[in-house]
Amino acid sequence: PTRINEINKNNSHLVGKEVKVKGWVRNIRNQKSVSFVEINDGSSVKGLQIVGDKDSFSKLKYGSSIEINGRLISSLGNTDKNAVEVQLTEPYKLIGQCPDEFPLQPKNHSFEFLREIAHIRSRGNSIGALLRVRNESTQLIHRYFNENGFINVHTPIITASDCEGGGEQFQVKSSLDTKDALFFGQPSYLTVSGQLEAEIYASSHSRVYTFGPTFRAEKSNTTRHLSEFWMIEPEMSFIDLNDNLDIAEDFLKYLISNLLKNSKDDIEFFNKRIDTNLLSRLEKTLSSKFVRLEYKDAISLLQNNGHSNIKWGDDIQREHEKFITSHFGDIPVFVINWPKSIKPFYMRENDQSQSLNDSNSMATVSNMDLLVPTVGELIGGSIREERYDKLLNTINQLGMDKEQYSWYLDLRKYGTVPHGGFGLGFERFLQYVTGLQNIRDVIPIPRYQNYCKF
Ligand code: 4AD
Ligand code: MG
Repeated sequence: PTRINEINKNNSHLVGKEVKVKGWVRNIRNQKSVSFVEINDGSSVKGLQIVGDKDSFSKLKYGSSIEINGRLISSLGNTDKNAVEVQLTEPYKLIGQCPDEFPLQPKNHSFEFLREIAHIRSRGNSIGALLRVRNESTQLIHRYFNENGFINVHTPIITASDCEGGGEQFQVKSSLDTKDALFFGQPSYLTVSGQLEAEIYASSHSRVYTFGPTFRAEKSNTTRHLSEFWMIEPEMSFIDLNDNLDIAEDFLKYLISNLLKNSKDDIEFFNKRIDTNLLSRLEKTLSSKFVRLEYKDAISLLQNNGHSNIKWGDDIQREHEKFITSHFGDIPVFVINWPKSIKPFYMRENDQSQSLNDSNSMATVSNMDLLVPTVGELIGGSIREERYDKLLNTINQLGMDKEQYSWYLDLRKYGTVPHGGFGLGFERFLQYVTGLQNIRDVIPIPRYQNYCKF
């Protein structure tokens, strides 16, 4: 069969051609002298309209799969659809019947309801478009790094480390585990981040990245957290914080500008049906230089604007993120150089002179969080502590198991280099480029607390 997006792409010169198309019925309209069926095969947000005479589709049910054979003609009217449609030249062939109680009806269902039928929801337009944008983004991410000399590393999913130190891990059990003997001889977990292992390869190949699933047992029932999400983590040797910021900004702009070209129909669909500010927000993101705001200035800004409860040393909450991005005119804002006390062990401590603080409790680290309108934190990253003694000190202070991280310390012992990177949450990125409100709707099959269907 011909795919519907191919018909879409080449429409004018295909007029008159015979085609065979297979797909699922999305709409049926029986009129006095003609009848119409819209089918979709998932290749395009715009379905294909099939025209038959009066009784052609009288027995056909919404949701069924069919094969049609016909001739392409220029379509009259509705320009929202393809410029061409198909005039049936023989009766359609039913492939799979669909009963009347098909849960997905041709109307706007709530996203909550769609999550209850997660195995069917991809046949609707929103999740249909999402999957194509997700796919295109995946391809662009690999392309960007490939074009910029990065090497892809597959870091392990089962790990013994806790990169972020949050203790929000899923433990791995095996069927061979006994009370006193674990499969690996020690506790193991699903990874929360591929960063630590990526650092191994940045210490030999200079520029690497991981793009894989990560797992967090967070008790956060929010629209921005999943238990299983995908993260893109470049790790680069011989860089400083400014390089890290430049690369993150360039990377995001590359992805967005190419998506606007390659996924035009899908993004326009989201702009029309999900968030009418989407396109203008993305265009603004492309044309703006991202703000670079010191953490301490972010705190003063908040204090001076009615957020009197926040003080130096506090984390920045969702409502603060919203204030900061809107204050700068709804463009992305990097908040940099955060207090060491609220960040993970591996971040590089700033020199005292640089952070302008004399007491140790005021120490800051060389890091960045990127805040974007509507989504909030999209990227977290840092320069890593490359000085053996400093790192060992922090590991001891935090009461971490030194033996467990001896391999990580070794990277600082044998030819250490300044290095750093960042993590982009793939689903939050997809929320940003589709306008979809809930992170549970930008991943094919979501996992969150109390939800692990099939
Ligand atoms: O800020 P995070 O925790 O940073 C790291 O994991 C670093 N090791 C990254 C690095 O430097 N290589 O997570 C990075 C990003 C966040 O900014 C957010 O976009 C996303 O991952 N993220 C989540 N996305 C969905 N659900 C969750 N529970 C998430 N937690 C973090
Ligand atoms: Mg973070």
